[in-house]
Amino acid sequence: MNIGIDKIGFAAPSYVLDLADLALARQIDPNKFKVGLLQSEMAVAPITQDIVTLGAQAAAAILTDEDKAAIDMVIVGTESSIDQSKAAAVFLHQLLDIQPFARSIEIKEACYGATAGLSLAKSHIAQFPHSKVLIIASDIAKYGIASGGEPTQGAGAVAMLVTADPSIMILNNDNVCQTRDIMDFWRPNYDKYPRVDGKFSTEQYTDCLTTTFDYYVEKTGKSLADFAAMCLHIPFSKQGLKGLQAICHQDEETLNRLTERFHEAIVYNKVVGNIYTGSIFLSLLSLLENSQSLKTGDAILFYSYGSGAVCEIFSGTLVEGYRNQLLTDRLDQLNARKRLDVTEYEAIFFEEIKLDEAGNAIDLPLDDTPFALQNIEQHKRIYRKN
Ligand code: CAA
Repeated sequence: MNIGIDKIGFAAPSYVLDLADLALARQIDPNKFKVGLLQSEMAVAPITQDIVTLGAQAAAAILTDEDKAAIDMVIVGTESSIDQSKAAAVFLHQLLDIQPFARSIEIKEACYGATAGLSLAKSHIAQFPHSKVLIIASDIAKYGIASGGEPTQGAGAVAMLVTADPSIMILNNDNVCQTRDIMDFWRPNYDKYPRVDGKFSTEQYTDCLTTTFDYYVEKTGKSLADFAAMCLHIPFSKQGLKGLQAICHQDEETLNRLTERFHEAIVYNKVVGNIYTGSIFLSLLSLLENSQSLKTGDAILFYSYGSGAVCEIFSGTLVEGYRNQLLTDRLDQLNARKRLDVTEYEAIFFEEIKLDEAGNAIDLPLDDTPFALQNIEQHKRIYRKN
């Protein structure tokens, strides 16, 4: 049975900051971000837009009533949870009107969580071929004002529907993982922002890739020449490019071809920024919607990396008619986001919800996006569908 991605949707928050403006405000050469990191803009979420509202918006854009009646598992991958106990998937299950007899869970392992969700979904569909599984990768990447990671922030959600006989991409059975206990990026429960050993994290990203790829080649007998494109986790676009170059140094023709596809695969990531666990799937969406070279039957290689660290290399094969599931105006939608200056960005992205003594915040600003946090009542988050 072929199992894979049947639909894929994306949502970004309403605001965007130009990294050239950020560079000027921080007295940094703008080319450090534009050329050095290969990033040009980053998405900015206000307090009324969180991993639940972004996830709901991404999923609502792709689901039909028929899908909602067939989905019996909702998986959210995130490292920016809104609750230490209740899964964001439970809020999403309700907001999206999914039939009640479903399992709803949250998976955490830094930027790798949603990839683990994809494997879980595949196993579930293998057991129950008529089911559908909704995976939502939703995160808000925030490092703090004037921090080292500030230009690599972002926010957004990718939703994927996993089914038998998918309409976009079959997931192949060639997954290879690696786990190594390292402290490159982590967020203790008492910290608002992650702690990050920036340079170490970039080295570990690449070393996990090269060593896992060697094992992948040994296990599967495949080589990079077998793939039409590669999608990698994109904390910032230059990191992905360096990763590709690190495993493709001997064959110039393959490197040139995969580099061309890589630039198509970062069109959205460059203007959204890091969305942690959704970044690799945003890159897939960018590749599919911006490449004219891909065709049915092409194989795509994936490298998912979550700090801490767990990584996975796997592949997928495009199916006939996959273009019918895509949008042609997504970049226009992203360009329509409200542009912030640096003072507005600092006020909006770092605003904190103030609770009264009883745990209420009833005066949140009105937000007319499709899903928004309306208020907090006795420590309970209340969402609104607009
Ligand atoms: N013009 C052009 N390029 C310039 C430049 C200029 N004026 N000034 C600097 N650069 C280049 C540098 O040469 C460098 O490029 P190379 O790496 O190719 O040499 C690049 O810009 C970045 O410069 P620095 O390394 O000096 O930048 P930095 O010290 O400020 O830190 C960072 C960069 C470590 C990525 C930091 O932004 C950070 O800590 N980010 C968060 C952590 C992160 O994203 N890690 C990635 C791997 S971990 C992961 O993938 C999980 C995850 O999502 C977090």
